[in-house]
Amino acid sequence: MIRIESSGNTRHSPPPLFFVIFGASGDLTHRKLLPALFDLHRKGDIHPNTRIIGVARKDKTTQGFRKEAVDGIRSFSRHLPKDEKDDPDDLREFLDRIHYLPLSFEKSADFDRLAEYLMDPELLKVTNGNILFYLATPPSFFIPIVEQLGRIRPSLDSSDRNGFTRLVIEKPFGHDLASAKALNQSVLQVFREEEIHRIDHYLGKETVQNILILRLANPVFGALWNRDIINRVEIRVFETIGIEGRGAYFEESGILRDMVQNHLFQLLTLTAMEPPVSFDADSIRDEKVKVLRALVPWRGEKPSGSILFGQYLEGGVLEEPVMAYRQEKGVDLGSVVETYAAMKVEIQNMRWAGVPFHLVAGKRMSRKATEIVLHYRKPPFALFRLAGCQDDTENVLTLSIQPNEGISLRFGIKRPGSPLRIDQADLSFAYNQIYQEDPPEAYSRLIYDVMIGDATLFARNDEVEKAWAFMELFLSLKRNPKFYPAGTDGPVEVDNFFSTDLS
Ligand code: NDP
Ligand code: BG6
Repeated sequence: MIRIESSGNTRHSPPPLFFVIFGASGDLTHRKLLPALFDLHRKGDIHPNTRIIGVARKDKTTQGFRKEAVDGIRSFSRHLPKDEKDDPDDLREFLDRIHYLPLSFEKSADFDRLAEYLMDPELLKVTNGNILFYLATPPSFFIPIVEQLGRIRPSLDSSDRNGFTRLVIEKPFGHDLASAKALNQSVLQVFREEEIHRIDHYLGKETVQNILILRLANPVFGALWNRDIINRVEIRVFETIGIEGRGAYFEESGILRDMVQNHLFQLLTLTAMEPPVSFDADSIRDEKVKVLRALVPWRGEKPSGSILFGQYLEGGVLEEPVMAYRQEKGVDLGSVVETYAAMKVEIQNMRWAGVPFHLVAGKRMSRKATEIVLHYRKPPFALFRLAGCQDDTENVLTLSIQPNEGISLRFGIKRPGSPLRIDQADLSFAYNQIYQEDPPEAYSRLIYDVMIGDATLFARNDEVEKAWAFMELFLSLKRNPKFYPAGTDGPVEVDNFFSTDLS
């Protein structure tokens, strides 16, 4: 079944399948996965025969699980009225598809029961035998679960079943290069690369996907995308939230592992990659990997000279007082873990050599903003200055990924009248001025893609390993963070840190 969208491209309807969620009572399932699945159901983007099976340790009934699902959907789906009496019919239909199976990741017998359930001849007919395993569990369980799936896979692959088998793995995909390799190895012993989908939800954001459209469908921008005309590139992900109660996790990860290794590197590779030979998953991923291979600290400096770590103190964010990182639950009182990192890197290839890329990620900043900003070179000759006119024009192209999705280009214009004056103006486009409907949630888009078997928006094993290989230069550095009050733009030292490489 294929539906034609207004843009003219073909939209595939996902086939029926078993959607097995490991970690079904967890935060991710509650806040993201079930609301996203419900949104897909509403749009008709889940096959009516699909069964969603939540598995987790707690002993609960399917009815109990459905009740929790409604709470999650009511709180986090954009499409469900908050008031119970307005529950639409499609919610009841959706809940009918959800089932719960208690299962301990440590008990082989529980996985045998799961295999029996999935191989039930009646259910096999309904789902065509397609199975999607989603690992929404703490990362320490990824390998044990995959090993169990490897043990039951021969019975799942018996001649009674013809469908596909796919695996979705949540971030973090490894903690460093060695653990990422070990995880890849384990997973690849059980699943083929084309069956594996490593999620980075930034790739599901519409405006992240728009980076490639802007560059590659518009020669006017495509032609202005190189070292000849670009002076520097900034990629920043500022968040107003802190660590959201995940103290123990953040103490292990810091912002380098939590945000930079994955989300910022995705933005970096999409911004810097060469045009792919075709728009299929592997051609795009091939180009992203080449960027990671060419990545070095700025001007070959020592890693310690190309990074600045920060940590938030108490302060006020959006007029609310907030505690310091060190006061958060689960955080050591003397912790030096970074909640902010600024990094200067270079991509040593023909397109980008000599252009600094400034990457910044920070928690508890003054505003939420994910942006890619391209600063263009000044004209080679200061014509208007020589004519006695102050000219501070800098062409700046800003891709705003969130929260105000859009694009703007700054340029100089003549102020009316005399004497000659140059002012700055912006040519800007905002998504919400053109499209009335909100873009789909990243998780809806990514789950839809896994169901139809499109791996373009997922990380490949070599991509993950190359990102970790570069990260290794920084992971073991002594932290010694610069402190910044929550609700500011990060440590004051950052201006000096970045100014040294600007020509
Ligand atoms: P939670 O800690 O909230 O959930 C863990 C889940 O695993 C629970 O369902 C729990 O079941 C189950 N579980 C734990 N131990 C066992 C066991 N021995 N046997 C069976 N079930 C077990 O984790 P999150 O939902 O927050 O995170 C899941 C994954 O998603 C992680 O990899 C995380 O990094 C990633 N992620 C999470 C995000 C988020 O916003 N939460 C955002 C991006 C990624 P029970 O309750 O029954 O014990
Ligand atoms: C998650 C990180 O992957 O991304 C969180 O673990 C972070 O720390 C979140 O807050 C940011 O996602 P978004 O979509 O809000 O930018």
